[in-house]
Amino acid sequence: MSADLTVGIHDISFATTQFVLTHATLAAHNGTDIGKYHTGIGQRGMSVPAADEDIVTMAAAAAAPIVERHSADRIRTIVFATESSVDQAKAAGIHVHSLLGMPSATRVVELKQACYGGTAALQFAIGLIHRDPSQQVLVIASDVSKYDLDDPGEATQGAAAVAMLVSADPALLRIEEPSGLFTADIMDFWRPNYRATALVDGHESITAYLEAVAGAWKDYAEQGGRALDEFSAFCYHQPFTKMAYKAHRHLLQNCGHEIDEERVTRGIGLTTTYNADVGNSYTASVYLGLAALLDQADDLTGRAIGFLSYGSGSVAEFFGGTVVPGYRERLRTTTHRDAISRRQPIDYARYRELHEHSFPVDGGDHPVPRETTGPYRLAALSGHKRIYEPR
Ligand code: CAA
Repeated sequence: MSADLTVGIHDISFATTQFVLTHATLAAHNGTDIGKYHTGIGQRGMSVPAADEDIVTMAAAAAAPIVERHSADRIRTIVFATESSVDQAKAAGIHVHSLLGMPSATRVVELKQACYGGTAALQFAIGLIHRDPSQQVLVIASDVSKYDLDDPGEATQGAAAVAMLVSADPALLRIEEPSGLFTADIMDFWRPNYRATALVDGHESITAYLEAVAGAWKDYAEQGGRALDEFSAFCYHQPFTKMAYKAHRHLLQNCGHEIDEERVTRGIGLTTTYNADVGNSYTASVYLGLAALLDQADDLTGRAIGFLSYGSGSVAEFFGGTVVPGYRERLRTTTHRDAISRRQPIDYARYRELHEHSFPVDGGDHPVPRETTGPYRLAALSGHKRIYEPR
């Protein structure tokens, strides 16, 4: 292993769903003051999957442009992070591997630790590349965030997938050592195997997240990480965008800084723009923040970016990365903006119908109506098997 080997994110691509429920529509239904959604939690819309979309179709849509640009020749591993898994045994990434026609000489695995899973996947990928720098790893984080109807969490739903190609000598972002780590056994948000929707102690979860920010930063500092002032921007896990503001203020205070709102907005404002329209994408959300930042910021070449990944239950990690010269030529800004703007707004009745949809569990043949205009779809559940197809 070469001492000057740099490893990080070589390409990043995101996809979301066919439909969007705006918070204005939700507020008109439930009588909530729209200020609570737009200002209080900082959300404008939530992506809603069509009946024939799920974590696999979003993941394949996010990963396809990466495989198309770089080919699959050097990708020997796919790590798929999710907390809205479609099967208890088979890795969702195998469906993606098949849809994208990737070589059989690939290892595919699924990872789970709530919203932290995407960062675990990234760090494991970096380890694999240190072992053999000629290989690349496809990391995919894909999730559908779903709470009960009329639950306080309902306004923080969403869905998206982010695919990242991790490699030596990356074109976008070098990921740095060290990482700051934090784990605490807490039931702030969880989903038992028998439930389709998550359970959450909302206010407890915010406190748990903030404690994890302080804990991960403390370890990062003890491991010899950068000083806070060295970072130009920070990407936080964003269950709702105002949470990133709460987290960043907490970090600044923790490091002895006065709260200057202009400084807070400068540090994280751009990272929140995609999440505000997409909603919580769990494992993908911190990297959706990165895509939004890279796509919109003035030249960040050579700048350090801080990452805070939080997964309820809970595990958190703080780490840094440096933006690589020439990165702007590799971005997918137009495609990313289109992924958000192409979604069709739906009314509350349609949203409710999709929210309540579930397959019969009789093992019969259940074709799924054609709804998505995305590149991949769930065609049927047949004999308890999910059947995917290119559209
Ligand atoms: N105008 C402007 N602001 C308003 C307002 C109005 N009319 N009405 C209320 N607000 C503000 C409130 O003051 C509050 O802001 P602050 O937190 O800054 O005080 C904000 O809007 C939300 O109001 P409430 O706290 O009263 O809202 P709530 O009781 O409905 O709960 C929530 C909010 C806890 C986030 C809830 O939506 C929830 O449980 N969400 C799911 C859990 C979650 O996202 N937790 C985050 C940390 S855990 C994590 O990060 C993992 C994960 O992905 C789930």
